Amino acid sequence: MTGRTLIAPSILSADFSRLGDEVESVVRAGADWIHLDVMDGHFVPNITFGAPIIKALRNRTDKIFDCHLMIAPADPYLEAFADAGCDYITVHAEAGPHLDRSLQAIRNLGKKAGVSLNPGTPESAIEYVLDRLDLILLMTVNPGFGGQAFIPAVVEKVRRIKAMIGDRPIHIEIDGGVTPETAPLVTAAGANVLVAGSAVFKGGTQEAYGANIAAIRAAADAAISGSN
Ligand code: DX5
Ligand code: ZN
Repeated sequence: MTGRTLIAPSILSADFSRLGDEVESVVRAGADWIHLDVMDGHFVPNITFGAPIIKALRNRTDKIFDCHLMIAPADPYLEAFADAGCDYITVHAEAGPHLDRSLQAIRNLGKKAGVSLNPGTPESAIEYVLDRLDLILLMTVNPGFGGQAFIPAVVEKVRRIKAMIGDRPIHIEIDGGVTPETAPLVTAAGANVLVAGSAVFKGGTQEAYGANIAAIRAAADAAISGSN
């Protein structure tokens, strides 16, 4: 995947009391995708929201809904997230014993299939499912909370995964601690979609979101200019 970097604001850092308006603001501010962090208090030590909230947000924008399921098990809920209007549905490789089955189920629901790896999970975990993937989401923090520090050891994993996928049309997405400082490290290594929560929503206004997104995008794209 080449071309300009896609920015996917995570609404985890939005004002939850005005979620629909926040989605509209961040779209007007230049978001490419909307990243939806679903947590269950079991796979990760935090609880956020589920399919009904996503469904309620669906009529606020036509942008891609990029759903990051930090839940275990995930399989019983895939249909609900598909029905809610998610476009990409990503499960964690660590969340269950039947990753291949989960990915097939997502595609059978007519959705794009993603897999996420925690920082400590090696890329070999997805070696045998590459042909079932539309997206690989690499965590650069331990999932569960926004506002954590970027883990630099993952940059080399991005590089190895970029080589591993060859010419398959698979997005490489980064999630956790993305800022204008860390974005160029991962785009230079091969990532093309960046999730950002706190770095996008800081400031609390559409104007601030616009400046925040532009700063991340400029830093990210500067690191790949000339390489495509
Ligand atoms: C973490 C979530 C992330 C989080 C990123 O478990 O998956 O999407 O919202 O937040 P920041 O960008 O603040 O690290
Ligand atoms: Zn996420």
